[in-house]
Amino acid sequence: MAELSHRALRELIDGFGGCDAYFSEMISAGALLAGGPFEAWYIDGGPRPEKLVYQLVGADSQRIVRAAALLDRLECAGIDLNMGCSAPMIRKTGAGVAWMASIDRAGELAAQVRRAVKRRLSVKLRAGFQEDFDYLVRFCRRLEAEGVEFITLHPRTAGEKFRRSARWDYVGALRRELGIPVAGNGDIASAAELCRRAAGPCDAVMAGRAAARRPWIFAHARALETQGPAYPPRANFHAGQVNLEETGPRFLELLARHQPPEFHLSRARRFFSFFCDNLKWGNYLKNLLNREENLAGIERVWRGYFAEHGEEALLNF
Ligand SMILES: Cc1cc2nc3c(=O)[nH]c(=O)nc-3n(C[C@H](O)[C@H](O)[C@H](O)COP(=O)(O)O)c2cc1C
Repeated sequence: MAELSHRALRELIDGFGGCDAYFSEMISAGALLAGGPFEAWYIDGGPRPEKLVYQLVGADSQRIVRAAALLDRLECAGIDLNMGCSAPMIRKTGAGVAWMASIDRAGELAAQVRRAVKRRLSVKLRAGFQEDFDYLVRFCRRLEAEGVEFITLHPRTAGEKFRRSARWDYVGALRRELGIPVAGNGDIASAAELCRRAAGPCDAVMAGRAAARRPWIFAHARALETQGPAYPPRANFHAGQVNLEETGPRFLELLARHQPPEFHLSRARRFFSFFCDNLKWGNYLKNLLNREENLAGIERVWRGYFAEHGEEALLNF
């Protein structure tokens, strides 16, 4: 996720026990090839390069192929093509979900990238431009025929943003139509929901925003799984405890270490706007944090909140 799934967040998640696979932020193929000033940060594969899937975004197939070949030489778990981003500034350039407009164009790209890389090749996409399941199946079958090894489906149409809930029935239905694994993504809000979706008809579940909101979500899910079918979790279930107060400064420390100074403020704001959702007065705190102009100010305001609301510092799960 752009501005979110950088090394600092991955380190934080890993500190809670990690997850099976991480996706990088989307990496612009053009900027990577041009040797942009921040590319070294985008391709930093830590803390678990062997679990990291690099995601590429772009509109020019030749550039994407060359960028994929470059990433293929780094230690990683795979290369993913972004065919799902519907942000207007991405889509209007012909990148992201714009690839879904043409099965041939997308299929040719997949074939070319397939020839250029040895790593596992995957594609992340949306349901399409409208609700047309047959088109989605034809689109994905072509990707499969060209050597794509798994699909992550965020089952919303290009124009939907987060307005309606994700169509999880598409995930199972698509999986039945393909010979390759399908990961489902969309609206995972809790560890219990992660477990419930993982037990359903899909091969993997991707958590997006919830991983920033609750970086311990994967640890919590593992704890629930070992407890058996205890969904929702039992009231007296204290498999883990999260120190919310300390997690904020811990993230800031990781940010300072693993991101360039130019990114510190924007990434801190992005993260805390999710992380504050764990707190009773989180919206109020978000506003205060957004007024701060540096990490030290953010930490001061954060600590100040817990000085008044000490009862919220620890979270049991
Ligand atoms: C801030 C933000 C940045 C995102 N950046 C990316 C991205 O770079 N690549 C991508 O495939 N999806 C990106 N997404 C979409 C998520 O991967 C995911 O598909 C979507 O948020 C739905 O999943 P969720 O409900 O678990 O968050 C982004 C979402 C958000 C909120």
